[in-house]
Amino acid sequence: MSITSFTRGQPSARPKVTTHTILEKKSRHELITCLTAYDYATSRLVDEAGIDMILVGDSLAQVVLGYESTLPVTTEEMLHHTRAVRRAVKSALVIADMPFGSYQGDEAEGVRNAVRFLKEGGAEAVKIEGGAKRADLVSRILDAEVPVMGHIGLTPQSLHKMGGYKVQGKDLAGVEQLIKDAVALDRAGAFSIVLEGVPREVAAMITQEVAAPTIGIGAGPDCDGQVLVFHDLVNLSFAPPAKFVRRYGDAAALITSAVQQFKADVESGSYPSDEESYHLPRNTKLELEAIMNRKQMKAYR
Ligand code: KIV
Repeated sequence: MSITSFTRGQPSARPKVTTHTILEKKSRHELITCLTAYDYATSRLVDEAGIDMILVGDSLAQVVLGYESTLPVTTEEMLHHTRAVRRAVKSALVIADMPFGSYQGDEAEGVRNAVRFLKEGGAEAVKIEGGAKRADLVSRILDAEVPVMGHIGLTPQSLHKMGGYKVQGKDLAGVEQLIKDAVALDRAGAFSIVLEGVPREVAAMITQEVAAPTIGIGAGPDCDGQVLVFHDLVNLSFAPPAKFVRRYGDAAALITSAVQQFKADVESGSYPSDEESYHLPRNTKLELEAIMNRKQMKAYR
């Protein structure tokens, strides 16, 4: 890549990605890229690097807010981060993850909360976890003009029901359930479906079976696209990485080294230097020196 082809801070030149773009990519057999992001700076970099979709994932509960699981994060917190991402992103499709408790109960409440993510957060779609049992809700949210991304397999909001973070669909009954879930979401009109923590063979079957693009995370290479948690990608997550995580950078090492260097420079007095300091204009400096000299003279008299 030449230095001119990627200029930070320039308005994005690429066309806006919409849910239609994502569907068209599947029909053209073009692989789809998706990353999570939760704030202005990283969203801006992710967008300018050309990623198709940015998911304001509820994984922010863990990687940004330090909770043990995704369960505690609230709708208000998700909206706050979605707005920051919205302000940064010009081209990528912005999807907000609906947090635990915002759609599992009353369907009407689920629809109202989905609408909030578009109206108050500036998202262009929402993601909800769960398969066939969420199909009616997906249709109702779509009726409210909100595109929906589905999410099946290892669904972190079902942590306690699953008995831990476990790969799903490892026996025939599990495989059958996953296929039913994917087909139900596809029929309900989901514009894409995240497949998380499922065997490669099952993800490949589902990808063949459904019109909606499948976006894999721990689901092998045969999906229509891939998503990763940004903090995993750049080594900013403190938990041991899952099998499928590939680190593309070491932000932890970069930040630690920069912070240690700052500390050393402040403690040794080498930061800030004279060049890094503001100075009085020459005339003011001379006047000030004259005043100080007169004061000293008076003191000697
Ligand atoms: O919250 C999240 O980061 C997600 C992705 C793992 C798909 O749901």
